[in-house]
Amino acid sequence: MRTLICGSMAYDTIMVFHDHFKNHILPDQIHILNVAFLVPDMRREYGGCAGNIAYTMKLLGGDPVIMATVGDDFPPYRDRLNQFGMDQSHIRAVPRTFTAQAFITTDLADNQITAFHPGAMNHAHENQVADAGGITLGIVAPDGRQGMLDHARQFHEAGIPFIFDPGQGLPMFSGVELQRFVELADYVAVNDYEARLLQERTGHKLEVLAREVKALVVTLGAQGSRIYSNGETHHIPAAKPHAIMDPTGCGDAYRAGLMTGMQKGMDWPTCGRLAGLMGAIKIGHRGGQNHRFGWDEIADRFKAEYGYGL
Ligand SMILES: Nc1ncnc2c1ncn2[C@@H]1O[C@H](COP(=O)(O)OP(=O)(O)OP(=O)(O)O)[C@@H](O)[C@H]1O
Ligand SMILES: [Mg+2]
Repeated sequence: MRTLICGSMAYDTIMVFHDHFKNHILPDQIHILNVAFLVPDMRREYGGCAGNIAYTMKLLGGDPVIMATVGDDFPPYRDRLNQFGMDQSHIRAVPRTFTAQAFITTDLADNQITAFHPGAMNHAHENQVADAGGITLGIVAPDGRQGMLDHARQFHEAGIPFIFDPGQGLPMFSGVELQRFVELADYVAVNDYEARLLQERTGHKLEVLAREVKALVVTLGAQGSRIYSNGETHHIPAAKPHAIMDPTGCGDAYRAGLMTGMQKGMDWPTCGRLAGLMGAIKIGHRGGQNHRFGWDEIADRFKAEYGYGL
């Protein structure tokens, strides 16, 4: 059951400024903004939506195949993927580019100043869905604009069911384009903010958009998620996190759980609960790929959390 994960591979560099930006960015001097922040703490995380989703799916025992474009600085990430035995045959290196990367500086009040360089990600359309064989489920996660458009069409043409997951890429598309994605897709997954934007841009309510697909999933952070399918709305409670460290990447972990459940033929309430458990585990760790577990542990925790077995 190979799952094709189309989306970004990225590095996230996170730096902590041990003061408040507001002490250094003076409103009356904003026209000549020239500030340097000394950041004694810095860490670099392996990230990108495709990398994050594939990572959690691999932990769950699935068979994810990443389809992405990366730059000359990718070798350390490649080494790491090798350690996990991840299929890399559709990770295409684009010479003379950088892998997509975010540089995030946070201050003591958790304000953030971020620069994002898309780099090789903007070549995503150089990969074609048809190049990957034996795929039974796919996802179009945030990626280069043309890549997302092409991959959605290619999944549809190949008759491979896929999730449209616009994420932070959603603002790149017009209402007409978003409507087309929903028509091509078999499933849609968004968070509550993206759900609002999707409704605004397309001019259609969620219930109407949901009729175009087999399931439309809305994640609601600590409130869990909702799955609209077949005229029904499943309210999925959140699982209890053991710790709350970092919410980034919870959406990706959720999608990994969701697709694992779908590949195993679970019903929507169970897929949603397994997905939510992944989000709750992820939030206890910094970055999108630092959580670890085995299937037995997940099965035990699922039973304890929801009162029935997987
Ligand atoms: N505080 C929390 N407690 C329990 N579960 C959580 C919490 N935050 C997130 N989750 C789980 O993870 C899922 C996805 O989280 P969320 O809706 O925040 O995604 P997101 O906004 O797309 O996140 P991101 O884009 O930063 O990865 C939720 O539906 C929920 O099941
Ligand atoms: Mg998200």
